Amino acid sequence: MADFDGDIGAWQRRIAECPEGLARRLAVQQALAPEPGKAYLDVGCGGGHLVKELSEAIGQKGRVVGLDPSPDQLSAARNLCADTPIAELVESDALHMDFPDGTFDGLSSIQTLEYIQDTERALAEMRRVVKDGATIALVSVLWDHWRFHGAEKELNDLILDAFRAHCFHQMLPLEFPHFLTAAGFDNVTSRSLGFFNDKLEETSFAYWGAKIAAFFAGTQGVPEDKTNDWLAQLEQANEEKRFGFVSVPILTTGVAS
Ligand SMILES: C[S@@+](CC[C@H](N)C(=O)[O-])C[C@H]1O[C@@H](n2cnc3c(N)ncnc32)[C@H](O)[C@@H]1O
Repeated sequence: MADFDGDIGAWQRRIAECPEGLARRLAVQQALAPEPGKAYLDVGCGGGHLVKELSEAIGQKGRVVGLDPSPDQLSAARNLCADTPIAELVESDALHMDFPDGTFDGLSSIQTLEYIQDTERALAEMRRVVKDGATIALVSVLWDHWRFHGAEKELNDLILDAFRAHCFHQMLPLEFPHFLTAAGFDNVTSRSLGFFNDKLEETSFAYWGAKIAAFFAGTQGVPEDKTNDWLAQLEQANEEKRFGFVSVPILTTGVAS
């Protein structure tokens, strides 16, 4: 399972800084429609990008809390939010949140619930800490459709099959409507934030995603010469302008009933 300390966390924060990372946060922000004076919680805040952006959106008037269990992610988030007076960064777990019932006016969680085995419990805890009428905005990835193109098929399949072990849930957005309704959210909607990268370069989501996939495949027993070969084949495909990467994150929203 993913541990977001160390290199993985650093590479994940580079992903957050890519245009597609920004795009998903803007979609979440639009769904939450944050207002000055209100309180927002980002669960699994990673490097704190959304905490900073929500704080700015409400003019530093109100409360924005980012919660994450990874000390490295929180340390990066504290640096990023050093000039963001209302940002609060808390080392905690989505399953045990130390907030009174009905604390928040809106709650977000981007690419985090797939790393938590007990989805029902996590969503029940999220429902508990928000007010009636609060909006929840979740982004999770359809991992079966997270595909790199350009490497030899057999090697590509080996790496991406091994990578599946990096999270508990491969197709969580398909389960959210049921789970959210059961947890006490109405008006559940889902929409695709899918995108395509045709370049493997440091500013592209695909570049950091490939490093993460290769690393995880290694932790699952794929030999290093194979993970290196896969990365080299993707580079070669990029040079020959036949590289492609597709991801389909889904934005799911609901209203606490
Ligand atoms: C892929 S990162 C996403 C970070 C951030 N939301 C973003 O979009 O940049 C997943 C985050 O979930 C956090 N996480 C993992 N398990 C968690 C849990 N049980 N409760 C809360 N956060 C968790 C990780 O530490 C990591 O920072």
